[in-house]
Amino acid sequence: MSMRFKLLGFLCTCHVLAVDNTMESYVGYKVYRFTPSTEDHIKLLRELQDAGIDFWTGPSPPGRTSDAMFSPEQQVDLLNKALSSGMKNEVYISDVQDLLDVEKVRTVQAPGEIDWYYYYKLDDLYAHVERLAVENPYVEVIKYGQSYESRDLKVVKISKFCETGETKPIIFIEGSTHAREWISSAVATYIINELLCGTLQERMDQFDFYIVPVGNPDGYVYSHTRSRMWRKTRSINKGSRCVGTDPNRNWNYQWMTGGSSDDPCTDIYAGPEAFSEVEIRSLAEFYQTIGNNVSFVLTLHIYGQKIVFPLGYTRDHIPDYDRYVRLA
Ligand SMILES: *[C@@H]1O[C@H](CO)[C@@H](O)[C@H](O)[C@H]1NC(C)=O
Repeated sequence: MSMRFKLLGFLCTCHVLAVDNTMESYVGYKVYRFTPSTEDHIKLLRELQDAGIDFWTGPSPPGRTSDAMFSPEQQVDLLNKALSSGMKNEVYISDVQDLLDVEKVRTVQAPGEIDWYYYYKLDDLYAHVERLAVENPYVEVIKYGQSYESRDLKVVKISKFCETGETKPIIFIEGSTHAREWISSAVATYIINELLCGTLQERMDQFDFYIVPVGNPDGYVYSHTRSRMWRKTRSINKGSRCVGTDPNRNWNYQWMTGGSSDDPCTDIYAGPEAFSEVEIRSLAEFYQTIGNNVSFVLTLHIYGQKIVFPLGYTRDHIPDYDRYVRLA
């Protein structure tokens, strides 16, 4: 008996050290793919989400798939609840850590140089866009604020001077508002590259572009240094041990409605109030300065082969619904 207690004590010490110094492990985490067929199934999926299950996609309407990640502890009660509901399911990823182990993050070979075969850390992405601004007369990096942890919030403005002096409509693109969605930053920087020296160069004659490579830098850094699956901001929540707000749920329009939670421990926590997060507040304030001229806004997320468009809080259609579907 006393041997056992000693061993536990030893393990605990290790755990505390591990939390402070290394990436969180996802050994034994599984992703299940569910296909709900009834409203009861969807209700159950929503309950699982409220109980802290991390939905990579969904909960989706009947007939569409929802991918949900279960920690080893959650595989005991919550998973059994889902599996015994009669809902169609399959093990989609049998061990999340196996996938994380093959993911490639690279440190830049030369300052400001990146490619699109690897993921890069925040400093490397920022150095890259700053270098573009130095080298290219059409590029300007604008700081529109500072994050909760005092990192710069940056937007890359790409605007080709035109001889007539007429102003162009604006396309606004944002990557990595959800911290862990690294490939969205890769896509944002890829679009910048295509605009400046690739297949999109002619688009600069039609539009000005404002591209935010990393909308949630604190979370992005945290997902590189501590917890790969981190999604939210890193702001402290008063009265809770759980950190962060879902930046995508923190906008003021229909705040805390459909698909949001008031529980700080969930990944879809909408914050104590709309615009509580400085990252979102700053972006909204910046957006006000260009909003009248913006003709298209695209926020990049993973995952799912989807174009998601308004309205998000209700199944009612917007007046332009058919146009959006055609565009998608
Ligand atoms: C928006 O358009 C107006 C009128 O064409 C122009 O004066 C202004 O400079 C434009 N602002 C931006 C940020 O492009």
